[in-house]
Amino acid sequence: MNSSDIPSLLSIRALEMNFGALRAIDDLHLEVEPGGIFGIIGPNGSGKTTLFNVISGVYRPAAGTVHYRGRDLTGLSSERIARRGIARTFQNLRIFRRLTVLENVMGAQTGAAGVSFLQAAFPHPGLERERRGRALDILEQVGLADRRDVLAQELPLGEQRRLELARAMARESDLIMLDEPAGGMTPRETDAMASLVVRVAANGPTVLLIEHKMGMVMSLCRRIAVLNFGRKIAEGTPAEIQRDAAAVEAYLGPGAVHA
Ligand SMILES: Nc1ncnc2c1ncn2[C@@H]1O[C@H](COP(=O)(O)OP(=O)(O)OP(=O)(O)O)[C@@H](O)[C@H]1O
Ligand SMILES: [Mg+2]
Repeated sequence: MNSSDIPSLLSIRALEMNFGALRAIDDLHLEVEPGGIFGIIGPNGSGKTTLFNVISGVYRPAAGTVHYRGRDLTGLSSERIARRGIARTFQNLRIFRRLTVLENVMGAQTGAAGVSFLQAAFPHPGLERERRGRALDILEQVGLADRRDVLAQELPLGEQRRLELARAMARESDLIMLDEPAGGMTPRETDAMASLVVRVAANGPTVLLIEHKMGMVMSLCRRIAVLNFGRKIAEGTPAEIQRDAAAVEAYLGPGAVHA
């Protein structure tokens, strides 16, 4: 058995995505094996968020394919892709600001594998209790249990990002894509988020992590892909990436990995 026989969780081939004349993703190939945290890094505008948008069905690619667990997802709606077991967070947050923290997490459960349309339309008290219990358990894990009844809009940014992660966790997916989970956070909040991401991955799901905070990326990821102008210019372990000439030139800068 050689390495090409190891089944990928996510397999991206010859992917291309354009916005008018701008090629945001350019002939991208990526194989993500199950387990651990896989980093996606690169300069602003290099196509990282666009890649998540194509994988999660927000955009339909101009060319190429996305396979998940061996099945072709290319061109499916974001709802169907979510139901196949891919969850994500958004760089600019998609929490419901006027709902409470707990309602935000329970809202993310609806539509996930656990709750059918009929169950959502005719809630059963026992099922409701179980969903509530699961949501509270997730809030406990992200450190927001004591904030359960606060409106999401009242939370400081660091806690809103943790709520966004909690919503992704509530979907109980095998792949969770995090778009700058530590964006705008203080160093202390960043450390707490890093530990949380490690715990999420330890519970089973594979994590795809976009982040500009290199201390976090280099310490958490088992493997990293570097994008530049929509192309993958390097891929390897954190140690390999830190001495990769193209990655250093395009993004990391000489002598640099700071938190
Ligand atoms: N909806 C859109 N319409 C037009 N252009 C877009 C759209 N979304 C992204 N782009 C462009 O595509 C390119 C890639 O953007 P993308 O948001 O994927 O970058 P990124 O790597 O996530 O950057 P950042 O680190 O700043 O978040 C950029 O040039 C961006 O301006
Ligand atoms: Mg982005």
